Amino acid sequence: MTMTTTTTMTPYEYAAAHQERFVQELIDLLRIPSISTDPAFAPQVRQAADWLAADMRRIGLENVAVLPTGGHPVVYGDWLHAGDDAPTVLIYGHYDVQPAVLADGWLHDPFTPVIREQRLYARGACDDKGQVLAQLKAAEALLATGGSPVNLKYLIEGEEESSSENLPGFVLAQRERLRADVVLISDTRIESLEQPSLNYSLRGLVTLEITVTGPTRDLHSGFGGILHNPAQAVAEIVAKLHHPDGRVAVPGFYDAVRSLGAEERAALQAADLPPREWQHMMGDLPEWGEAGYLKIERIGTRPTLEINGLYGGYSGDGFKTVIPARAGAKISCRLVADQDPETIFAGVSAYLRQITPPTVRLDIRPLGHGRPVHTPTDHPAVQAAKRAYGRNWDKAPLFIPGGGSIPVVAEFQEKLNLPVVLMGFSLPDGGAHGPNESFHLEMYRKGVATVIAFMEELRAGMPA
Ligand code: BES
Ligand code: MN
Ligand code: MN
Repeated sequence: MTMTTTTTMTPYEYAAAHQERFVQELIDLLRIPSISTDPAFAPQVRQAADWLAADMRRIGLENVAVLPTGGHPVVYGDWLHAGDDAPTVLIYGHYDVQPAVLADGWLHDPFTPVIREQRLYARGACDDKGQVLAQLKAAEALLATGGSPVNLKYLIEGEEESSSENLPGFVLAQRERLRADVVLISDTRIESLEQPSLNYSLRGLVTLEITVTGPTRDLHSGFGGILHNPAQAVAEIVAKLHHPDGRVAVPGFYDAVRSLGAEERAALQAADLPPREWQHMMGDLPEWGEAGYLKIERIGTRPTLEINGLYGGYSGDGFKTVIPARAGAKISCRLVADQDPETIFAGVSAYLRQITPPTVRLDIRPLGHGRPVHTPTDHPAVQAAKRAYGRNWDKAPLFIPGGGSIPVVAEFQEKLNLPVVLMGFSLPDGGAHGPNESFHLEMYRKGVATVIAFMEELRAGMPA
């Protein structure tokens, strides 16, 4: 493919002129099933990394490399010619995706992208390949029209959807290479096509699995009545994890939670989850959860404990009269500032042991932790992002606390001491992790333009 380098064009004009090709390139990347959690897809994960490295080289990034991490590789590339007085932006994203099969409710094969009504449908479309390419295409437009106003370093990883286990070690070992003034991430949501928003925080995460065992093997349920059924015991345990009013019952769970100032609460009032979004997710069911807080507060500023999976006994066709030897549950907690994952894990474990009846055995297995992150909205880098949205939308962006987690982000903040700017372009009905995931092509186009504007605003507003 030939690339036109026209210095008389602005980067915005270049991006507009090449938008159709940008879409084709995203389609190419979406065809690769880079599912990080399933070892069977390791070659495809590698293929996606190589695809990105090739694109980085083509657009003029330097020092491009697919670097080993111990798990799936990281793709790195940089452009460091903006001058010593220009800030350096470390752009993070992930090229791996969640699993997806047709049977989950997709209208077509999840790795055969389809465009319908301005949306590109495929696994990874918005989480996170579309948003990663918006970042890279912004670099392409800048480099093809005279250069970037800031220094750029790209770090695109392949294990985010499976907990980024190897990335903290990589970040620490590569501290020098990753030295920057700010981290920029497009892996979060935006309020709507008309209303931009950016997240100023992400929740942390504690995941664990409990296994409850009883009889030495599955028993004929004719033995029922003399022993505690492990499946029933798990149900009893899980039922004690919340109070009837929706609060988490683990003692001390809320101790470290920072309470919001009146100003922040008032701002959230204006940004609460719109009723049409509730309707889209839940139909006409009433809400549930901690009383006394807005939905947006419960999503972004309050911690939770969720049952992600519950298993035990026979659930196949027909019927089996059995008392299962074991049953279990997968449990996760979303954390907010200033909760510490280790402390929460210890507290949840102690409570689980306390509420487990003596008639069964309990085993607890930790499955990974991530800390919450928070960037003050008055930080110059966040203010540069705000102006960048202002240049591309009719409305100023809302500041919203994010409900999800990106495990490595706390490492950037704590180990590299960097502020994190979360410029997301994924619409609420984008279907991340679910069937028929999509990326709105208008968000792709505006994403590229907003990232370019961010680089310009950052150069103007933040000293190196
Ligand atoms: N992009 C999401 C995180 C996200 C989504 C943040 C929406 C804010 C709003 C990311 O890819 C993700 O799914 N993270 C996982 C992490 C887990 C697999 C360790 C999550 O939040 O569950
Ligand atoms: Mn993501
Ligand atoms: Mn995800």
